[in-house]
Amino acid sequence: ESLALSPLAFSVYHGTLVHTPQLGEIEILPNCSVGVNTEGTIVFINKNSVDAMDDALKFDSRLNVSNIKLVDIRSNPYSFFFPGFVDTHIHAPQYPNCGIFGNSTLLDWLTRYTFPLEASFKNLQIAKDIYSKVVKKTLRNGTTTASYFATIDANATNVLANLCFKNGQRGLIGRVCMNDNSPDYYVEDFEQSKKSTEKVLKHIKNLNEIQESVSRIDKSEENLILPIITPRFAPSCTSDLLSWLGDLSEEKDLHIQTHISENVEEIEWVKKLFPESKNYAAVYDDHKLLTSKTVLAHAIHLNEDEKKLIKLKKSGVSHCPISNSSITSGEARVRWLLDDSINVGLGTDVSGGFAPSILSTARHALLVSRHLAMKTFKENDKLTVSDVLYLATLGGAKVLSLEELIGDFQVGKKWDCQLVNLRERDSQVDIFSWQLPEYFHNKLAKEINQDEKAKDKIDLSDNLRFMANQN
Ligand code: GUN
Ligand code: FE
Repeated sequence: ESLALSPLAFSVYHGTLVHTPQLGEIEILPNCSVGVNTEGTIVFINKNSVDAMDDALKFDSRLNVSNIKLVDIRSNPYSFFFPGFVDTHIHAPQYPNCGIFGNSTLLDWLTRYTFPLEASFKNLQIAKDIYSKVVKKTLRNGTTTASYFATIDANATNVLANLCFKNGQRGLIGRVCMNDNSPDYYVEDFEQSKKSTEKVLKHIKNLNEIQESVSRIDKSEENLILPIITPRFAPSCTSDLLSWLGDLSEEKDLHIQTHISENVEEIEWVKKLFPESKNYAAVYDDHKLLTSKTVLAHAIHLNEDEKKLIKLKKSGVSHCPISNSSITSGEARVRWLLDDSINVGLGTDVSGGFAPSILSTARHALLVSRHLAMKTFKENDKLTVSDVLYLATLGGAKVLSLEELIGDFQVGKKWDCQLVNLRERDSQVDIFSWQLPEYFHNKLAKEINQDEKAKDKIDLSDNLRFMANQN
């Protein structure tokens, strides 16, 4: 299979930009022209442009009309450009289990549904089949960046990395480490875990070299595929494995992801397994696993000490509201975290969460925050539409330490983008992730809303309209 790349044309886009440059704020910029260079980087944004092609020619005198690609969406008043969604927590192999959870809660859900499915991915044909569906499905739902949990199988994990690379999805790829408290048919020992972890790191390094051969990479984060160290959760790993992973992450400055404080029985279990650590967050910190590049999924039942520790270490939280409702884990106190300047993004947590869509997850985050507010009687706990769209984009980018590249539209960032059409259901419009080669021009048409009464003006501030239509 070929993983070769070819360069992009200089491109200019003309139409309305919508993004959330700050928590709680939606900015709508009509008639913008956006210049995107051959590296996929935004080089100019002109507001109220009358002629985008002219803007491009003025920007760089070496360009001419024949080597500039123009995409003009102004003829459709219901269309706009929106930053690609960021899924900060998704289990790619669990995709076939979406919607299957019965009345289980975390620990029996893992044994009954999850581990048997994940174990089947040692068959690489299954891995290829399911992983290609996941990457395509999430892209179709507007997810241009995803932080993936794969399985313990290194070869299958490398298949997922290849598929993200080929389809132009920015992917953080985590081979799941689990050498303790796991079923006989789905477990590794310490030595195997080290070897398999290194195998995936090496594979991703090769992918990065392919990208570097056609593109300038100034910072390692610009690589489309990044490795992410993934101890499944504290109970799955022995202390010596956790320490090894912490040291490795420090040495190579790697991202880390895991689960934390999702379920009350899980928390009790962690207390018993790690009696020397002060609390769940401290278990990770005691193994050097809390860093500014750590993504902690769920974080529902944290105490004040744990929140302080997470803030101190600048780790991020992935809020997974659909999962938390489905397997009845609880309502994460998102505002409680945000008010302390902790970075929060959204995670589908497929298949704890039944939807591969970050838009659905954003809607659910809004509702879960209202359920929380019904218990706390705090108006402030309610998340707004602007809040959840921020979490879905720039918030997620910050959690993944990618905010210098993606999350909103700014000169110097990547043109990481989905085309939203409020009118057409199921439209498949070719669009424009920032990527290098032609095949990176993914189909990312995304419908946010289909409202007959929608006027020329795009207004996402109305909760009811936002909630009204399923994708
Ligand atoms: N905790 C440990 N493993 C998992 C998983 O696969 N999903 C969720 N939601 N929580 C976990
Ligand atoms: Fe999860």
